[in-house]
Amino acid sequence: MKLFDMRREYQAPKISLEDMNPDPFTQFEQWFQEAQELYGDHTNAMSLATANAQGAPSLRTVLLKSFDRSGFVFFTNYGSRKAREIGENPQVALLFPWIEMHRQVIITGAAKKVSAAESLSYFISRPRGSQLGAWISQQSSVLTSRQALMSQWEHMKEKFKDGHIPLPDFWGGYRVTPEHFEFWQGQENRLHDRFYYSTRDDGGWVIEILSP
Ligand SMILES: Cc1cc2nc3c(=O)[nH]c(=O)nc-3n(C[C@H](O)[C@H](O)[C@H](O)COP(=O)(O)O)c2cc1C
Repeated sequence: MKLFDMRREYQAPKISLEDMNPDPFTQFEQWFQEAQELYGDHTNAMSLATANAQGAPSLRTVLLKSFDRSGFVFFTNYGSRKAREIGENPQVALLFPWIEMHRQVIITGAAKKVSAAESLSYFISRPRGSQLGAWISQQSSVLTSRQALMSQWEHMKEKFKDGHIPLPDFWGGYRVTPEHFEFWQGQENRLHDRFYYSTRDDGGWVIEILSP
């Protein structure tokens, strides 16, 4: 396989600054809806980058579960590596890789735990198997064997039987409040469009064009 020769020419209708919505949330919603036509249920998969107190980064995929003007919400285990790092350093980055559309959206900001009530309302919407899974996974810790995990699974299934599965106190959501958005559209000859939004003190947004 020759990676040197593996490339795609990007072409899309040119976007001018005036075409971009002054409100990045509305702009995101528009691109999200367009991406949904192609990506369906995978549209909300995003990369989440965190960094520990020493600045060492780590990265993984999580699912965006809601967004509005207050921020972008995902759910996870509060004992996981990502959660530990957010505890040390709340600054995170999110990246939506809508590659087939030659687009990416990058959001940076601070992450904060959502309320237990908000986590609960999502938790109860999940399939029973996912609820049980949340109880047994000590996410990011080292397992002695797959078998050990499966025996915990059997134990938990027995414990909750057909009854109500409560929200684990070590599981819930984070809301990322955006400070910057970058909307990237691939263009011909690598002269891509990049629109960089920054929050102003008065709550409005400034849009700048970045060099590709
Ligand atoms: C498509 C996809 C979606 C995922 N969604 C989530 C998610 O919403 N929450 C989550 O905690 N992990 C999710 N994961 C697993 C994470 O990528 C990761 O393995 C896990 O959260 C542990 O990360 P950490 O050790 O860096 O904390 C997803 C993985 C994939 C491939």
